Amino acid sequence: MVEMAAPLREAWYYALPGHKLRPGRMLARIMLGEPLLIGRDRLGAVFALRDICPHRGMKLSAGAFDGREIECCYHGWRFDRDGRCTAIPSLVEGQAFDLARIAVASYPAREVQGNVWVFFGSDPSAAPDIPVLDGFAESAAPRLVETMRFGAAIDHAVIGLMDPAHGPFVHSAWWWRSRRSIHEKEKAFAPSPWGFTMSRHAPSSNSRAYRLLGGAPETEIAFRLPSVRIEEIRAGRYRVTNLTALTPIDDTTTEINHCIYWTAPWLSALKPVLRPYVRAFLRQDRDIMERQQQGLRFDPVLSLIDDSDTQARWYYRLKQEYRRARAEQRPFDNPVKPRTLRWRS
Ligand code: FES
Ligand SMILES: [Fe+2]
Repeated sequence: MVEMAAPLREAWYYALPGHKLRPGRMLARIMLGEPLLIGRDRLGAVFALRDICPHRGMKLSAGAFDGREIECCYHGWRFDRDGRCTAIPSLVEGQAFDLARIAVASYPAREVQGNVWVFFGSDPSAAPDIPVLDGFAESAAPRLVETMRFGAAIDHAVIGLMDPAHGPFVHSAWWWRSRRSIHEKEKAFAPSPWGFTMSRHAPSSNSRAYRLLGGAPETEIAFRLPSVRIEEIRAGRYRVTNLTALTPIDDTTTEINHCIYWTAPWLSALKPVLRPYVRAFLRQDRDIMERQQQGLRFDPVLSLIDDSDTQARWYYRLKQEYRRARAEQRPFDNPVKPRTLRWRS
């Protein structure tokens, strides 16, 4: 029996921005509590293997990678990028040993729009696909990526991210908004692939930062399983898209990668100014979630209320339905129905 709070399997998770992995390099990561070696071969393709040598358990990432094969640092066993064993140096001429008996588990890995994603499960074909951002080429890369770790389990990190009511309390800052700016909001939601979307609307007038874009900005926010949020802001002919992906590192740690794409060339000039704002924002979320842990330790019963916590409820329902659909080998039936939500924030 799978624990409800466990991260969803049969899903792609954000591993890292592609620029952090140059050809011929590999690095070690923990994702969903599993040790991973993520590499980029000399042709530029990314791959992921279980970071454990099947001989005596050494971390393979502690060895060497020549862009084609990984050599374990303990006894020199070699593996190709698919995890097949290609050499065991201790074997003597004439010792018949079938190398095909030895393999390292490999994970499907893909690079899409400048980000590396890794699949956890057995069948990616029936899983939510890796998001492809509208209006940006397949080869596009985020102009800015901010990575941060939260000391919170995945569910609380996801809910904390989509929670519309914490803004005035957690994100109050002179440059953004004050607590007194709290006011009523009404937003239309509809089911969308593997999740739901807050339909296109003009952002609240208290979101002063958006005015930098010029024109009348409109934004659309989509959430999709397992833990991805896409916020698309359009103003005039410009487009800014925020891709926020949460990755469970282990039961108590979640990594957030906030990737910003834009088409307005002049926005690049603002990058040094933009980065501290993004960091400050994420830190506020991180700090509040970490303080929340002190209460969650006692496993309290929570009270998710309408309408401000409806998205959190949808998240739990989506997760449960996805699990059931996969277990019963039937198509996913999105449990979200079109609805207008109202709250004060
Ligand atoms: S532990 Fe890897 S080769 Fe022996
Ligand atoms: Fe927040």
